[in-house]
Amino acid sequence: MWTNGNWARNVGTIALCGATATALAWGCETNDTDDTRTATSTSGSHGSGGAACISTSSMAGATSSTATGGMSDPAQAAFEKGRQTFRYDTFGDEDFWGGTLNLHKAIEGQTHGGVGAGVSPKAALSVGLKVDAEALPADLVASIQAGQVNLDDPATTLALLKLNAVVGVTGVFASDGNLASVGIQCALCHSTVDDSFAPGIGKRLDGWPNRDLDVGAIVSLSPDLTPVAQFLGVDEPTVRQVLAGWGPGKFDAEVFLDGKGFRPDGKTAATLIPPAFGLAGVNLHTFEGWGSITYWNAFVANLEMHGKGNFFDPRLDDAARFPVAATNQSGHTKNADDRISSKLGDLQIYQLALVPPAPPAGSFDAQAAMRGDDLFSGKAQCATCHVEPTGAEPGWPMHTAEEIGIDSFQADRSPDQRYRTTPLRGLWSHAKGGFYHDGRFATLMDVVDHYDETFTLALTPSEKSDLVEYLKSL
Ligand code: HEC
Ligand code: HEC
Repeated sequence: MWTNGNWARNVGTIALCGATATALAWGCETNDTDDTRTATSTSGSHGSGGAACISTSSMAGATSSTATGGMSDPAQAAFEKGRQTFRYDTFGDEDFWGGTLNLHKAIEGQTHGGVGAGVSPKAALSVGLKVDAEALPADLVASIQAGQVNLDDPATTLALLKLNAVVGVTGVFASDGNLASVGIQCALCHSTVDDSFAPGIGKRLDGWPNRDLDVGAIVSLSPDLTPVAQFLGVDEPTVRQVLAGWGPGKFDAEVFLDGKGFRPDGKTAATLIPPAFGLAGVNLHTFEGWGSITYWNAFVANLEMHGKGNFFDPRLDDAARFPVAATNQSGHTKNADDRISSKLGDLQIYQLALVPPAPPAGSFDAQAAMRGDDLFSGKAQCATCHVEPTGAEPGWPMHTAEEIGIDSFQADRSPDQRYRTTPLRGLWSHAKGGFYHDGRFATLMDVVDHYDETFTLALTPSEKSDLVEYLKSL
């Protein structure tokens, strides 16, 4: 049984990280740009180190006075190394994104030795790429503010890449200054920015899903997708058609296993990009519960990003269910030059420390949310699956499609053929794109209506809106 306001108390604990709504959102992070900071500085009033984040993320609901102390140097170092990997490590995947797909040629454009018109900063922002304002030198900031920087010129994009300012994308530059290749990072999909400088330009918000990012459109910039087509065993136009179907905020991690680009109803088979925060204490990860965080990190870094590492999963040898993976022996990926395995530990620690952002003040009705809290664990029966405080069941948080009243298409694309109970904290921060794995419910009210019908809960309109206010408060 949930006790009233329990999560609200936890939110209060997080609030110690920072003072403003954006700082709250990733308070520890925004106060934490000084990488030379020593562990002792984390005892400051903001609890400004990763240590504070780790402690608050434990969500014990206990006192916060212990939250900022006691973090030892190795843990702090692991957190910082993990963050470095999350934000900047390509694991050698530039050999794929640049080397094989030649994306860098499309980015630089003909004028700079590539192909086509090139990608201007405006074009990059329009497909959801984000710019890290803190990577911009003061004189460039001043020039942008004075309107002296041409945001329609691909040369500006190259300059931003040289500054390592494009979130989740790394340019590899040759000695002649030309772009030689390009690689991607976790942050491409699982970070966004707070728009504090301009739309799409601001401070990094790690763990927030980038629901503006049109991965399909970005991959489609490649002048030649035949390597992907060959991998999937289809022709290139088919690959482009599948990519065009994804749209903003979505990616299909399973198409590279089963080759299914579309669902039986004709809609894209891609899922939303989920948050990478709020996962501590949750047993299984991804919408389909493929495995632990570190399982999935190895999966993604090897099979999706095409970094160089080792990955083992004989479940993918099932040629009936995972024909593409079985043919390509994806579950037996081996690289002598392993740039992934040694980073998995710290990367996991970093993700476990990503605290869900607290809702901005005034963004929900606190009285209604309290009533919604009671309904959540009472009449509406939500807490039978969404257990405090993570929002997912301790143990094996998996359910059949039938149990939650939806189709099984996406569940069937994974080993256990189930959906994992989604952790709910920070829901407010990723409303864009909708809810459930494919965004089928545009609003939280739609989600509540779905449960009301599926479980014949007989909720009154005001009970439904109380539940929604509660969900907005998490
Ligand atoms: C191209 C976009 C993209 C990139 C790059 C990417 N991810 Fe993901 N990530 C996704 C999508 C989409 C899912 C959902 C997959 C599913 O459920 O089938 C996901 C799922 C996850 C989950 C599970 C979240 C949960 O709710 O349990 C974690 C953790 C995660 N990714 C971490 C990472 C890490 C770490 C990296 C870098 C090594 C990374 N991702 C790179 C798109 C991406
Ligand atoms: C039988 C277990 C179960 C019960 C009961 C249940 N849920 Fe869920 N919930 C799930 C599963 C599984 C998912 C993931 C569905 C998907 O992604 O397709 C989910 C997803 C959600 C989401 C979407 C989260 C996101 O990020 O997209 C919300 C919101 C939610 N549930 C709220 C509720 C509320 C409110 C109730 C009570 C009215 C409730 N749930 C009852 C299992 C349950």
